[in-house]
Amino acid sequence: MYEHAISKGGLMNLKNRDFLKLLDYTPDEIRYLLDLAHDFKKKKQNGVRHEYLKGKNIALLFEKTSTRTRCAFEVAAYDLGMNVTYLDPVSSQMGKKESIEDTARVLCRMYDGIEYRGFSQEIVEELANNSSVPVWNGLTTEFHPTQMLADLMTIEEHFKKLKGLNLVFMGDGHNNVANSLMVACSKMGLNFTCCSPKDLWPDKELVTKCREISLENGCSITLTDNVKLGTMNQDIVYTDVWVSMGEPANVWESRIKLLKKYQVNKKVIDNMKPNSIFLHCLPSFHDLKTSIGKEINEKFKIPEMEVTDEVFESSLSKVFDEAENRMHTIKAVIYATLKDQNE
Ligand code: CP
Ligand code: NVA
Repeated sequence: MYEHAISKGGLMNLKNRDFLKLLDYTPDEIRYLLDLAHDFKKKKQNGVRHEYLKGKNIALLFEKTSTRTRCAFEVAAYDLGMNVTYLDPVSSQMGKKESIEDTARVLCRMYDGIEYRGFSQEIVEELANNSSVPVWNGLTTEFHPTQMLADLMTIEEHFKKLKGLNLVFMGDGHNNVANSLMVACSKMGLNFTCCSPKDLWPDKELVTKCREISLENGCSITLTDNVKLGTMNQDIVYTDVWVSMGEPANVWESRIKLLKKYQVNKKVIDNMKPNSIFLHCLPSFHDLKTSIGKEINEKFKIPEMEVTDEVFESSLSKVFDEAENRMHTIKAVIYATLKDQNE
């Protein structure tokens, strides 16, 4: 059904691999994870139990808050028959009384896998370097790789293919989601456009790397600060919050100034292809139903930020499919990296 589908349970072996960033994975490996995720989704929908990892234990280390990623890891693990320990941003010794290195060396004596959400990519890499069990990146300042699998899965469900589609990211072009989308698109053959002010374009080195990868996969990377050109002829428009977790509150003012004209609204949608869709990793500031949304509106008179409520609530918005797919794709990552070879 899906482009490039490979035989299930075929030759791919990802056992014991960390999942730290998509740059570490080949297009075939990503394809395999997506196929697994589609398969797990079908099983779940049809009530087919899949407790393939019964008795295994995983630890979820969160130094930043989360709804989707935490719940996706927990439900995925329970569906696979596993046990989960959640460590919240304040209740472990990590970083304060115990180094990352020692934390990794302790946790891997007890757990079969470790998820980390937090600050720099270096931390998750250091955890992985000192752990004998797989480490999964649940978001760092630089990358958000599990989000990418859910995004690709959602795109594929809608368009029945990935290769050749045009995706534009609008907003803070140097955040974790924009960086990761650029990598994901270049690996999987989608033409990626970053439409944001020049000051917020992704890191040059990463752009160069992604351009090289995109050449191998027959697609392109474009950076533009022109909304009309950037959104023309696109299949998918994607946006994210203008200020990410861990950034100081005083950047709101300058971000709003810079990003106001990069809001995803009806005008943007009208400039895209007719069958286009809207994606957002969530959470999103599309109305005044959040405390931060209200506070920002009081200060800067902006009731909708990165996307208008009209677009968010429209039929072309696939954000809740995307959120659900976090669980199926994370399940695929856990399973692929922990299953025994002959399972
Ligand atoms: N998209 C995403 O990672 O959501 P959470 O921050 O709720 O985990
Ligand atoms: N860029 C956002 C993504 C949230 C899922 C952040 O890091 O806060």
